[in-house]
Amino acid sequence: MRNTPRDTPTDTEPLSTTPFSNRALNIHESATGTAFVRAGELKRQGVDLISLVAGEPDFDTPQNIKDAAIQAIASGKTKYTMPASGIPELKEAICNKFHRDNGLSYNTDQIIVTCGAKQTIFDAIVVLINPGDEAIIPAPYWVSYTDQVRLMDGHPVIVETDAASGFRMTAEQLQKALTPKTKLVLFNSPCNPTGAVYSESELQDLARVIADAGIYVISDEIYEKLIYDDEIHISIASYPGLQERTLVVNGLSKAYAMTGWRVGYGAGPPDLIRLMAKIQSQETTNTCSISQYAALEALTGPQESVEHMRQTFCKRRDLMVERLQAIPGITCSKPAGAFYVFPDISAYFGKSSGDRQISNDLDLNDFLLDKARVAGVPGSGFGAPNYIRFSYAARIDQIQQALDQIEQALSPLYEGRPNL
Ligand SMILES: Cc1ncc(COP(=O)(O)O)c(C=O)c1O
Repeated sequence: MRNTPRDTPTDTEPLSTTPFSNRALNIHESATGTAFVRAGELKRQGVDLISLVAGEPDFDTPQNIKDAAIQAIASGKTKYTMPASGIPELKEAICNKFHRDNGLSYNTDQIIVTCGAKQTIFDAIVVLINPGDEAIIPAPYWVSYTDQVRLMDGHPVIVETDAASGFRMTAEQLQKALTPKTKLVLFNSPCNPTGAVYSESELQDLARVIADAGIYVISDEIYEKLIYDDEIHISIASYPGLQERTLVVNGLSKAYAMTGWRVGYGAGPPDLIRLMAKIQSQETTNTCSISQYAALEALTGPQESVEHMRQTFCKRRDLMVERLQAIPGITCSKPAGAFYVFPDISAYFGKSSGDRQISNDLDLNDFLLDKARVAGVPGSGFGAPNYIRFSYAARIDQIQQALDQIEQALSPLYEGRPNL
């Protein structure tokens, strides 16, 4: 089982010999999507694999939300929705959510409902990025940001962060990355894949640089409800001068275990939202009518299931981090949010076992797939090739077993013993 490195596009045919657009050929498959499909195929072939790939909660969607969807179908809410950018009662509920959770006031003309947060982000990029414009993106980053910018012929400008800095971009780094071509910064707290959560003072410093530079922010806050210990979520839009230049992105997928329902939303300046709605009207029209009624129930109904999932994720995180930290050669910091761990596995580069050479994250990920029967996602897809991402959206017993198998597979490799 082998992968191709991600620093070259997946479609490598010379551009002049294909009928297809440079845009389509020049971007990558989503690294998480590719790993997800691959793990699924192996399982279908009967391989006894533990997949720690998924970027989705393993919980079922809460029953009250399913019931609301069933009720929407029964009462004939099965047509295009008006307006396409979201049913008014859902937009109202989203405004109330922002007020309640983030202290942010919006009118309904500042809200758009989309087919997942992924579409919210892409619509904003379509509206904001002209060819040659730069988008500052701190790495490690969620896999889709860079390619969505490239799809609009923009340039992702990557700001590197590492475990020592808590995977958080500083205001000084942001300042240095600014150029006259900078259009926006794409920002994610809590972060996928690192789980990093920015503190109040860090956000304040970043907000000052952003306001002075007069650039836009796309603030992806989709993991807002999944924060552990004493950390708190603050939206960067709540700092002076930021709300009028920030698109806050959120969605139902992660907090309410609703990845398949495809509901995301954004809140921002009315002009930006109006143009995003125009783009959406030419691509998907509205997100599924039934999903919108389900989302309305999710945001306005009982919230206990969100807290239950959060507490369960927290226990799994503690186990996962403790087990990974005990493996020689792996360093793993404790993530403050989301449901991923992002261990540094670079101590294994240069090791070999039989004819298996481990040169990079892709090799080690393949090695773990073959020898430990555990699937993760190589860090290079997140702009961080010294790491692998494991999701802890899996049962405790699966996590225990996966870590037993990883430990066993890695131990002879780290000691340099040949032939597993
Ligand atoms: C950081 C981040 N943003 C956005 C999304 C997209 O979520 P949705 O399912 O709402 O499109 C994901 C999904 O993995 C994510 O991890």
